[in-house]
Amino acid sequence: MTQLTIRRPDDWHLHLRDGAMLAGIAPESARHFGRAIIMPNLVPPVVTSEQAAAYRARIHDALPLGADFTPLMTLYLTEQTDAADVVQAHKDGIISAVKLYPAGATTNSASGVTDFDKVRGVLDAMAEAGVPLCVHGEVVDPDIDIFDREAVFIDRVLDPIRKATPGLRVIMEHITTKQGVDYARSGGETLGATITTHHLVINRNAILVGGIKPHYYCLPVAKREEHRLALREAATSGDATFFLGTDSAPHIDPLKENGCGCAGCFTATNTMSILAEVFEQDEALENLEAFASLNGPAFYGLEPNGTTITLTKGDPVAYPTKIETGDGPVTVFDPMMPLHWRVS
Ligand code: NCD
Ligand code: ZN
Repeated sequence: MTQLTIRRPDDWHLHLRDGAMLAGIAPESARHFGRAIIMPNLVPPVVTSEQAAAYRARIHDALPLGADFTPLMTLYLTEQTDAADVVQAHKDGIISAVKLYPAGATTNSASGVTDFDKVRGVLDAMAEAGVPLCVHGEVVDPDIDIFDREAVFIDRVLDPIRKATPGLRVIMEHITTKQGVDYARSGGETLGATITTHHLVINRNAILVGGIKPHYYCLPVAKREEHRLALREAATSGDATFFLGTDSAPHIDPLKENGCGCAGCFTATNTMSILAEVFEQDEALENLEAFASLNGPAFYGLEPNGTTITLTKGDPVAYPTKIETGDGPVTVFDPMMPLHWRVS
């Protein structure tokens, strides 16, 4: 196969930031994607429907003229979140989901949840109204090794929440482990999972072997090879549980190449080329459309995009190594392999 036409893909987990960074990187996602679930971890976070509507307007302003891209907004769940505001914002079409960050788990998550009992009322209201919950699934307990934090979260937090709130639609975001794959698979129709582009390509060696490589550091951190292989199998299987959430998370180079470097890989620019390469390697190109364009909308109760994109195989694709933004340069994820599929 040298040409593949699929429904226009969506990105079910994206960081677009704000201000000059937003202006610099929004075109990178709008070029290939039809919609994206926009993460609310700005500083300060997007916690009310009014803030979500204002952020959505800023995103629209940052898009290139004529862009075919719809931002799907989320609210950042805090222990003060008002259940009525969440339900109303969802009903009004201002938000598509609510995002749960355990406090301190990742970039700009200080306002997240520490005491899960304090959000019980909001979660019940969301289950009742059909508002999906996007979950950053890592415990923050300093006693738990960073490579075990996802698996421990499933047992200690996620499974109890789902049992206490039957009917709540949950997206396990950016899963990075075999345990995540297995749990997502066993969860029935109320449970979905996103997988990033970079976690299909790198294992933890990419970060640590031959010198520390800050541009491969993200959260959840990449795990051992056996976990990457489990993610590859899940993503390329066509199983409707799994769909693309790139977690493309730009930070300017000085904040990545730093004594305390920020977490996040920026993959918006070359994601579709990387995915086509990965699915071809696994002899599963016929399932790329399910992963990138069909399974996500189905979970969110939306129609797939009405338009298509065509990927063509040829000579290695040239893409920029950095995107220059008004805030500074952002390094594009290097998959450490030539990419042969371009979006035409
Ligand atoms: C994200 C960011 O930079 O906002 N970083 C990351 O490593 N993925 C936060 C997140 O999604 O965890
Ligand atoms: Zn993220």
